[in-house]
Amino acid sequence: MTLFNRLLPLIGHTLAPQALEALRLLNRPFELEVDPFHWSARETSIRFRNRLGIAGGVDKDAGQIRGWHHFGAGFVEVGTVTPEPQGPNPGWIMGRDAETKALWNRMGFPSKGGKIAKENLREWRIFENTHELERFPIFVNIGKNRNTSLEDANKDYASLIGLFARAEQRLADAFVINISSPNTKGLRDLFQKERLAEFLKPIATALTTHGTPGLLKLSPDLEAESLKNAVHVACDLGIDGFIATNTTIERKPGSPFPQEGGVSGAPLTERSRQCLEALIRELGNEKTSKLVVSAGGVMTRDEYLRRRDIGADLVQAYAALAFQGPWFFSNTLTRPKS
Ligand SMILES: Cc1cc2nc3c(=O)[nH]c(=O)nc-3n(C[C@H](O)[C@H](O)[C@H](O)COP(=O)(O)O)c2cc1C
Repeated sequence: MTLFNRLLPLIGHTLAPQALEALRLLNRPFELEVDPFHWSARETSIRFRNRLGIAGGVDKDAGQIRGWHHFGAGFVEVGTVTPEPQGPNPGWIMGRDAETKALWNRMGFPSKGGKIAKENLREWRIFENTHELERFPIFVNIGKNRNTSLEDANKDYASLIGLFARAEQRLADAFVINISSPNTKGLRDLFQKERLAEFLKPIATALTTHGTPGLLKLSPDLEAESLKNAVHVACDLGIDGFIATNTTIERKPGSPFPQEGGVSGAPLTERSRQCLEALIRELGNEKTSKLVVSAGGVMTRDEYLRRRDIGADLVQAYAALAFQGPWFFSNTLTRPKS
């Protein structure tokens, strides 16, 4: 990977909030195709103005919600938020390959911590109320701190649910339980059959206590048996839905990226689509009561429509934003002129 391809995405990621704000000030709000969706679970009942949203990792500390709202996102998933602040993994953490429309990262949950993310989200809710905007659905993606052991990991997740839910007003519309990142050592081991139920139980209890739905984010690298186990364990514990998928550790022949880290964008399209199909098959009749969100290699309007056809209630993107900018929403949600 060239220095340019390593530096460009990192600069883009670092300057994204400022760039987004500048673009927001220069652009008028967009008129997008209307495709509202209503979702009710636990004490949440919410209307999405459209079904295309921002995937986890773009707005890690909940500081860019106003910009994404302006550019037409149907919802934003902020985070991954960790309880305590922590920096990224040392060394190179991001790369991109324009030829294959791929992103690579090994960030490892850089986060300003739960308190800052909560404060930022609270500010957005105040702005929303002051301007009498329709409530904008926000998912809060939560993870463990790097130094927390796998045995104690669920305490980090449950404490974050408590932190956000203890606000004077409801801040999060759902929590996303992220154990599918390949960039925190051992994290994906929590999907193991002998670990998953024990890990999830206190989190499920915290969700019930606070009346907020929770979604489990899946890895595209789960074997069929592990995927099946994850779906059934999560459903038995009352988890309200799934996001398929996070980044992959698979490398296509000729991939310019190191073996460490996760790849997203176009090389992930097929794998994520297959994971969505497998998820829907596994859910069977339970599909009607669960929220299904598809992420991974959604780079075009056709792919967005395909995920919807397969059965995704909502769709998310990260890599497409890195290649198309915030216009991805108008590119995808505006019917091409015939
Ligand atoms: C640079 C980068 C950082 C990411 N950070 C997170 C994260 O903090 N939490 C998370 O759940 N997913 C994270 N993701 C994964 C995305 O949310 C998404 O699942 C994945 O990139 C697939 O979508 P895409 O092909 O549209 O990029 C990250 C992805 C990238 C490229």
